[in-house]
Amino acid sequence: MNGVHESQHPLVKEKLTILRDPATPPKTFRAVMRSLTTLLMYEATRDLKIEPVSVITPLQAKAQGVRLADRVGLVPILRAGLGMVDGALDLLPDAQVWHIGLYRDEETLRPVTYYNKLPRKPRVDVCFVLDPMLATGGSAVATVSILKEWGVERVAFVGILAAPEGVDHLQSHHPDTAVYVAHVDDHLTPPPQRPDDPPAGFIVPGLGDAGDRLFGTEPQ
Ligand code: PRP
Repeated sequence: MNGVHESQHPLVKEKLTILRDPATPPKTFRAVMRSLTTLLMYEATRDLKIEPVSVITPLQAKAQGVRLADRVGLVPILRAGLGMVDGALDLLPDAQVWHIGLYRDEETLRPVTYYNKLPRKPRVDVCFVLDPMLATGGSAVATVSILKEWGVERVAFVGILAAPEGVDHLQSHHPDTAVYVAHVDDHLTPPPQRPDDPPAGFIVPGLGDAGDRLFGTEPQ
């Protein structure tokens, strides 16, 4: 599990275009993010371990099959990661879901942890961190560090958009963590110079603030 995987699938590209459009309302935004996450998770789960099982089909014939051998944890980063949970559970209905609450201090852009209820020991073999936006990478680096300290060695990041700066930051701290995204965008916004400049640290061209667009809230 390593490297950066930018989806080349036409359905991913089409859905991403809908998310980028500011005219897309929250209801549609949530539905499209859900199905886009399912597509990205299909790509991100290709290395999961399986074990053989056999079934007797309705024709009373034995067929060789498999079942998942890995116990999977989904780790959405609050709040925007919540928009990816159902799409991941559509593929992995037995996955455990562990929430990590981080917000990005708008001045320093450093992640601040406000929710972590992980039990003492993990009972999963692999974790998928879910967050639509990999901007500076601070939130992702902090979350992967939390999971590794918890005792999970195999961790992948699944997001919708990444900035090159965020990919570099995550890979420099956690080179063994694969990154699966719909697209790696151009850059991050610089610190604002004029009152109507956008805030610093937003992915460009991006899709805006994923949390606000999912939940219909105004920027704070
Ligand atoms: C956004 C986004 C990521 C983070 C990315 O969350 O959903 O969690 O910023 O930025 P980074 O890569 O620079 O750390 P935000 O802090 O706005 O919180 P929210 O999801 O509650 O809106």
